Amino acid sequence: MTREEYNKRIKEVLITEEEIKTEIQKVGKEIDKLYDGRPILLVSILKGSFVFLADLCRAISVPCEIGFMCAKSYYQGTVSTGLVNITMDLEQDISNYHVVIVEDIVDTGRTLYDITKLLKTRNPLSLHVLTLVDKPSRRVVEFETDWSLFTIPDKFIIGYGLDLNELYRNLPYIAIYGED
Ligand code: IMP
Ligand code: MG
Repeated sequence: MTREEYNKRIKEVLITEEEIKTEIQKVGKEIDKLYDGRPILLVSILKGSFVFLADLCRAISVPCEIGFMCAKSYYQGTVSTGLVNITMDLEQDISNYHVVIVEDIVDTGRTLYDITKLLKTRNPLSLHVLTLVDKPSRRVVEFETDWSLFTIPDKFIIGYGLDLNELYRNLPYIAIYGED
């Protein structure tokens, strides 16, 4: 892909850096209030949530540890195949933790459905789910998050950690992707 093609596919900025920053500050305060000084474990679902996690953890002031899990939901281009596979698991025994799962986007719901089901079997003290973006119109399994910072229509988005075939994760904003 040429540089020109690369740039042309960034169709329109949907969520600005400022908007993201504002919502992260708000949810950071809510998390501080909810956990009230109790230590938490933020479980980042790789790779998409790494940028969000980095900003989120700095907006939180309760004692907080970070863990990573890697889940691959298989996509052909911009369409989900519906298969989810946990390719990297947590190192921590989570039975002594208040866990907050940190995800970039909920689409069909399958990834988070599988991950929460698995983590519940490990008996955490509590389990909450926080997503940066939600696309509720695309759900194929019933799944609700505890916090969702932005709700968007059925568009394929890139940036701020979100990719199209591994590209565009480093955009500082969220944009709509398009090939036409
Ligand atoms: P789900 O299992 O269908 O909910 O898919 C969630 C995963 O699909 C996310 O963690 C993303 O990695 C990916 N995904 C879904 N929609 C988008 C999108 O619009 N842009 C980039 N990745 C997406
Ligand atoms: Mg992801």
